[in-house]
Amino acid sequence: MINWAQLPFAYAKTNTNIRCMFSKGTWGDIETHSDENIQLHMSASCLHYGQECFEGLKAFRGKDNKVRIFRWKENLLRMNRSAARLSMQEIPEHIFEKALITLIEQNAEFVPPYGTGASLYIRPLLIGTSPRLGLSPSDDYLLVLFCSPVGPYFKTGVTPVKVIIERDSDRAAPLGTGNVKVGGNYAPALATSLKIQKLGYSSALYLDPKEKKYLDECGPANFFAIKGNSYITPESDSILASITNMSLIDLAAHFGMTIERRKVSVHELADFSEAAQCGTAAVITPIYEIYDPLEDVTYSFGSQNQTGETCLRLYNTLIGIQNGDVEDIFGWNTVLDI
Ligand code: PLP
Ligand code: COI
Repeated sequence: MINWAQLPFAYAKTNTNIRCMFSKGTWGDIETHSDENIQLHMSASCLHYGQECFEGLKAFRGKDNKVRIFRWKENLLRMNRSAARLSMQEIPEHIFEKALITLIEQNAEFVPPYGTGASLYIRPLLIGTSPRLGLSPSDDYLLVLFCSPVGPYFKTGVTPVKVIIERDSDRAAPLGTGNVKVGGNYAPALATSLKIQKLGYSSALYLDPKEKKYLDECGPANFFAIKGNSYITPESDSILASITNMSLIDLAAHFGMTIERRKVSVHELADFSEAAQCGTAAVITPIYEIYDPLEDVTYSFGSQNQTGETCLRLYNTLIGIQNGDVEDIFGWNTVLDI
């Protein structure tokens, strides 16, 4: 029996995963597997040369018992941008759609019940599988979609957290792969993540890798802040185009707020009334404090115990749309009657 309200953000076995192979220039049939293991050639291009990209999206069960998948087409578009960046095969929409719907149908009992605050996290991944020793793209690819019921990524949920500016390493290079979702961006950031967690921080906030003057994003999420009636979020070539951030921008504009998507200098942190991380896993995780170790300055936003008014309104509207309580005026959800 799953304790839905206490779920961590962690892998849990479900009934099936869905696979599709690209081989000899064409995509094969969608396959259902219950085995959690993949058989892979030891020289596969994903293992040596990092031909791997992935996505993260969620499905929610509503009061009406229907399942809503949030903005999956945006995840597919981004996955194909990631694939193209790594010279990998792009995924046709009809294959991704069929794989996704089949996965959710076969694992419908793992979509958490309405009202538990949990959701079904779906992780698509694409890997190059041809044996390679010389450096060249794979001919063969494997698309896998699996899912896990999850709770909040940060244990604090929507309670504010502390963040530290990372000065010792970069997450991305100026013209590198920070703007796509590839596994190679995450392993190098693990050491920073372990270091800052030991110091009591929830996330590292990375700066632009070229000048170190502007805010980029947090390790697993985009950054945004509120100043007066403005929603402010960094524009940078080295950050991931967050689908959550895109959605919050639409919601903030709908609330009549001004949207400022631009370079945001570190010192502007002093002017913000609210700050937060946002992403599929992080949802909106408010930030009450950002420490800059270089200048030994702490920037504070509201209270440690209370989420700011605008962040809370955005959060409630976003999750309201996702679970069907708030009208989906932007047409973000794909609704399944399962
Ligand atoms: N930035 C990074 C580095 C991420 O890994 C994620 C997670 O997907 C995000 C931002 C948030 O993107 P999204 O809102 O599309 O999940
Ligand atoms: C997501 O938010 O979906 C992500 O992929 C971030 C990851 C670090 C859990």
